[in-house]
Amino acid sequence: MEITITENYEEMSKVSAQIIAEEIRKKHNLLLGLATGDTPIGTYKELVRIHKEEGLDFSKVKSFNLDEYLGLAPLHKNSYNYFMWDNLVKHININPENVYIPQGNINDPEQFCRWYEEQIRKLGGIDLQILGIGSDGHIAFNEPGSSFASRTRIKALVEQTIEDNSRFFDKIEDVPRFAITMGVGTILEAKKILLIANGKKKADVCAKFIEGPVTSQITATALQLHSYVNVVLDKDAASKLKRTDYYNWVRDNKHLVQKEIGR
Ligand code: PGA
Repeated sequence: MEITITENYEEMSKVSAQIIAEEIRKKHNLLLGLATGDTPIGTYKELVRIHKEEGLDFSKVKSFNLDEYLGLAPLHKNSYNYFMWDNLVKHININPENVYIPQGNINDPEQFCRWYEEQIRKLGGIDLQILGIGSDGHIAFNEPGSSFASRTRIKALVEQTIEDNSRFFDKIEDVPRFAITMGVGTILEAKKILLIANGKKKADVCAKFIEGPVTSQITATALQLHSYVNVVLDKDAASKLKRTDYYNWVRDNKHLVQKEIGR
């Protein structure tokens, strides 16, 4: 895992958008895994800016979203489909046919989950997966206890997630109790992963998933088993890490590797 600690939310958003833009420039038909939530809003804003001002081309990009509330229609204002269109899709030149988001109000969700996995596989697998992290350590809606081998499926949300997400709904009873979510196993198959987090409320969970033991009780710890993970945090989210000096040193001295190789 490469850990980058930034000054604030704005810098976290810029650094993460640069990482994504770089991957799209290297591979025009990138399969990009997208996340929702408060955390990536700034990253998407910055990607929109790079598209508008620097011509970043999404015309061949395909995207797959991590999850969706079960029972919400795509046009519901709290659906993740709505979120993606509002924050990214309608502002860039991605082909809407290439935007894959689980459909919350599908008749046969289990069959849909199998179809979703199949599409990811058929299109060559996710190249870069963007992730946020829940305060309970979930990635996507893989709540504590989710198997590291899990695939896209229906998952019951834990009380804490329902509480965390109730801020978007009129009342807590309106928050759906189930979601369709990619599994931990699905996520681990992405070629590269970028996890972003900000704010003091994520400090404990970030310390646990980066420096703690691997456990299905904190599904983000599964990322320790992946060979290519970038973590971009603001300094509040990084405030409980123990090895900050090391992470900063590595970030600032990457060029030395080139020098060593060139010797
Ligand atoms: P947040 O959600 O970005 O709104 O904090 C993250 C998550 O639950 O994965």
